[in-house]
Amino acid sequence: MSHAIDADTGRQAEILTPAALSNLRDSKYLEMLIGVVGDPYDKATNPHGIVNMGIAMNTLNQPYLLEKLNSLSKVYAEDLDLTSLTGIEQLQMAVAEHIINRHFNPHEPVTSKHIVLGNGTTALIDSYAFCVCEPGDAVIINSPHYTGFRDDFHLRARAVTVPVPIPIQELDDPERVAIYYQDKIDELRAKGTRVRCIVVCNPGNPIGMTVQAILAVAEKNNLYVLCDEIYALSVFRTSQDDDNDNEDGKTDPPLRHHPFTSVLSWDDLSNHIDPSRVAVIHGLSKDFGLSGFRVGWLISPWNSMLLAAMHRISFFSIRPTMTDRMITGFLNDHQFVDTLIATNRRRLLANYNLATEFLRKNSIPYVPSQSGHFLWLDMRHIVARFKQGLLGHARDADITFEDEIKYLEHLINDARVFIGLGRAFSAPVPGHYRLTFSIKPEELQVALSRIADDISAISGDSLLN
Ligand SMILES: Cc1ncc(COP(=O)(O)O)c(C=O)c1O
Repeated sequence: MSHAIDADTGRQAEILTPAALSNLRDSKYLEMLIGVVGDPYDKATNPHGIVNMGIAMNTLNQPYLLEKLNSLSKVYAEDLDLTSLTGIEQLQMAVAEHIINRHFNPHEPVTSKHIVLGNGTTALIDSYAFCVCEPGDAVIINSPHYTGFRDDFHLRARAVTVPVPIPIQELDDPERVAIYYQDKIDELRAKGTRVRCIVVCNPGNPIGMTVQAILAVAEKNNLYVLCDEIYALSVFRTSQDDDNDNEDGKTDPPLRHHPFTSVLSWDDLSNHIDPSRVAVIHGLSKDFGLSGFRVGWLISPWNSMLLAAMHRISFFSIRPTMTDRMITGFLNDHQFVDTLIATNRRRLLANYNLATEFLRKNSIPYVPSQSGHFLWLDMRHIVARFKQGLLGHARDADITFEDEIKYLEHLINDARVFIGLGRAFSAPVPGHYRLTFSIKPEELQVALSRIADDISAISGDSLLN
């Protein structure tokens, strides 16, 4: 899927603006993803297919979801018409009542007036970026970070995401976090770049961090803050779980627990930042495993002008009336939703334990976590051994981002497993990958044993002992 401009396409390209043209730049990673998605593992129909542990998807609850959604999928006359330019109000009410007020513990009850709906949070970030950023503005994000932010802020709004790499061991230290952010802001300003916004994932993807320090930096520097709380209901591990685990003799490395608190719940938010600078996003894709439905919401009880500006353009990303109506019915059954959230958490924890046991057994260092769907892996020693097999020599310190991608190509082509490439998440050091564990347990088992076989093939048995 290359869009290199040659003589034939050059004339066609004359129609495009420089921005649209530059959006067509090649992305090796995107091409890789398309190949992976086109050849999915299935025990019965495609047993040699690729097990996908590289994208953020949650397939843990599909039978339960299908049963519910199929019971809601009749088409009604009102579904045939466009009934609203912003989405049906009943859906905004259901989100406010059954998701936010019930599960996010907001300081003041959220109402439908505080919510903008979109085609997933991706579309909402795109329109937020259009409303808040000028072309060339910098948006700063702690790295490694979710790869999609780059495109969400850039493809249309032309803002530029800038990673702030903070060593993992310093993420819990608010003072150090504030210094890393301030240094990055100063560096960008010294180059004449306007810094406009900070994106913070709470809880984090792929790793967590301290929100309070970031709000203080934003206030000090007149920045806006987009709090991405898309994994809010996927906190799967508490200190209580750890006590139980210790009784079972499990040995996940120690974790400093951060119980999730939405910024919507802070009763002293205005002591930290002017709340009109803050907006929160959440949606169906992760906590509910419904990314195909493309439904997300942005919430701000504090900035009605931002909401008005986003509503003004929200018909560009309107969902089918039938989708809005189905999802309203889905959310209104709050008993079903509560059970789904609890079941999802239990299943995430079970899969997390399965994956981390494998990692420990195979001496792959990882960042322990308590929320989300991922593990951040340090596979430098394995990439080095892989490189050594190709070259006859290599040390961990010798590996490059090119080696990181080569090893991933090898995993896809030979081991038939896909994991996320560290570089795609703006990882500062090569040799890191993101593993999504929220897939069906039997597929997770297949993928992990394929990786184990591959490690022993490239490293010899010594690494496994
Ligand atoms: C942190 C984060 N934010 C936003 C998104 C986008 O989700 P969607 O557009 O499906 O709502 C993702 C998807 O992976 C994500 O991980």
